[in-house]
Amino acid sequence: MRIAAPIEIGPLDADAQQAVRDLAAAAESHDGVAPLSEQPLLHLGTDAEWITHVVAHTTAGSTIGYVQVDRSGETASAELVIHPEHRRNGHGRMLLKTAERDATLPSRSGEPGQHGKHLRVWAHGDLEPAREFARAAGLRPVRELLFLARPTAAAAPASPATPELPAAPAGYRLRTFRPGADDDAWLLVNARAFATHPEQGRMTLDDLRARQAEEWFDPEGFFLLVPEGATEPAAFLWTKTEPGQPDGARDGEIYVVGVDPAHQGKGLGRLMTDVGLAHLARTGATRAVLYVEGDNTPARATYERAGFTPAAVHVQYARP
Ligand SMILES: CC(C)(COP(=O)(O)OP(=O)(O)OC[C@H]1O[C@@H](n2cnc3c(N)ncnc32)[C@H](O)[C@@H]1OP(=O)(O)O)[C@@H](O)C(=O)NCCC(=O)NCCS
Repeated sequence: MRIAAPIEIGPLDADAQQAVRDLAAAAESHDGVAPLSEQPLLHLGTDAEWITHVVAHTTAGSTIGYVQVDRSGETASAELVIHPEHRRNGHGRMLLKTAERDATLPSRSGEPGQHGKHLRVWAHGDLEPAREFARAAGLRPVRELLFLARPTAAAAPASPATPELPAAPAGYRLRTFRPGADDDAWLLVNARAFATHPEQGRMTLDDLRARQAEEWFDPEGFFLLVPEGATEPAAFLWTKTEPGQPDGARDGEIYVVGVDPAHQGKGLGRLMTDVGLAHLARTGATRAVLYVEGDNTPARATYERAGFTPAAVHVQYARP
């Protein structure tokens, strides 16, 4: 007999947030892929109209499942995880149903961030259980996010330990990001460069500040290419290296590369990618990694020419 787990819907206090982090860590060590991505982890403590947290417990009170529904975009987005020791008991199905109800309920105010939206669910790593689970729930893949990787110069013993950063082209200046002073100008260029991207293009000052407060944030790894005489950057390259990785096999992420549409088609994306690769090698990363939309053919071609190959795929599912 299956026993329904008690669920709790609402904001998470500090202990509940830690229990979700522990649950995600248990799933990651079992599955080999983190079940929750950066955005929902950053929002574990968020209590706002557009977000819903649902936690499933055992009757003894330990956290065995979690789903976060984010209704701030055009469609609602959910990330869902069930503890490896509690799978195939219907908890995933129950949390998915709760998340779908939360997302699709008719909007009360009609404001953005409210309900009445289609739900999309992320499956990180495209694992077989998630595929079967989605199929059983009547969901279909609607979006693919590729995780690409390539060795950096630091992985090749013959290359110099401190590769030079590529020079800025004539008429541009390459400099690092100044937190606070560059925030507004960067948000404008980011919104223009990612106007059609469902998450990146909607980044707000609060989102930027949340990243600046993270342990990994390093303005020395965040580059702006600014036209001479201008204040707004034409292109930017932001790297991210998770702290606590062992030396010897260290990943460094090309976190975001953006080129203002007014400056596209001049090779600035490739140049900034090379800046990122040189910076990551200088900081000792042996592998450069990045995420790109599966249907972003121009970006995929740029990265493939720069030596990146697919290392994993993340899939978003939705009801047809
Ligand atoms: C995917 C996941 C959420 C499923 O949670 P769960 O509690 O085990 O799922 P349920 O017990 O509710 O399964 C519902 C149905 O999905 C299908 N299913 C789930 N896991 C399956 C598996 N490993 N193999 C085959 N079918 C599976 C079955 O049809 C199942 O019904 P049944 O048990 O009556 O046959 C869980 O494996 C998980 O946390 N994975 C890592 C995170 C992740 O991938 N999240 C994205 C989900 S889209």
